[in-house]
Amino acid sequence: MTSRLDLAIRVEGVSHAFPSADGKPVLALDDVSFDVPKGQFLALVGASGCGKTTILNMAAGLIQPVAGTVTVDGERITRPSRRTGYMFARDGLLPWRSARDNIEVGLELRGVPRQERERHGTRLLDMIGLSGFARAYPWQLSQGMRQRVAIARTLAIDPDTLLMDEPFAALDAQTKLMLQAEFLRLWERDRKTVLFVTHDLAEAVALSDRVIVLTRRPGRIQADIAIDLPRPRDPERIRFDQRYLRLSEQVWQALKAGEAAP
Ligand SMILES: Nc1ncnc2c1ncn2[C@@H]1O[C@H](COP(=O)(O)OP(=O)(O)OP(=O)(O)O)[C@@H](O)[C@H]1O
Ligand SMILES: [Mg+2]
Repeated sequence: MTSRLDLAIRVEGVSHAFPSADGKPVLALDDVSFDVPKGQFLALVGASGCGKTTILNMAAGLIQPVAGTVTVDGERITRPSRRTGYMFARDGLLPWRSARDNIEVGLELRGVPRQERERHGTRLLDMIGLSGFARAYPWQLSQGMRQRVAIARTLAIDPDTLLMDEPFAALDAQTKLMLQAEFLRLWERDRKTVLFVTHDLAEAVALSDRVIVLTRRPGRIQADIAIDLPRPRDPERIRFDQRYLRLSEQVWQALKAGEAAP
């Protein structure tokens, strides 16, 4: 049992419907409940349109569920919190700001003094291997570099919880593997709570501690699978591990069953 103190996110009896063009509401989520202990890396997978982004948006305080509650660190979330970082597939970098200024934007918004901002910026640029690109603008960076800057920008505010919506989806296979490994190394240092949405089952199993599989819309929980693979983990090499293959098969079967759900 997880005690209240160890709990990072609680999604309890959440249902959500969106208005549609023909006036009939679209039920996106139907009675979804799960708890995320502090420090857990949880992957959410499921067919397109099953409500994954909606769950992240609720945890981010951008959407209120029509039924049920979402709490983060014991508090019901009604608006975006400083303790939470949100990262998307599209890097969302500000084109008129250099890599460094993009990384420091969250600190600037919080009124962190310039020197301290620069200290954090320099450390993060170094951490993501882009020290030589501090002054480069987004259009001068490859997609992989831009995603690295986006990761650094998310980590700059030192959030307790990271919400990630297909953060590596726009990358080619090789860059993706590299960034997954880099991100895992960063994560393994201080183990923030991560809610990670992906369509890539290999990525879900390779990175996470647990995979929740949602049914097709309206999203319900089809399966909740513990990924008890050892850490630290190399997302590239783990793919040849027999346990990894068995878990991937299990997630795949759950996804198929969830897509056929009534
Ligand atoms: N703002 C909105 N207005 C109306 N309908 C919406 C809105 N946002 C989402 N929906 C609908 O709710 C459902 C769930 O959307 P959501 O974006 O959460 O799915 P998803 O699982 O993230 O899908 P994908 O894998 O394609 O990103 C979809 O059917 C979508 O059309
Ligand atoms: Mg989505």
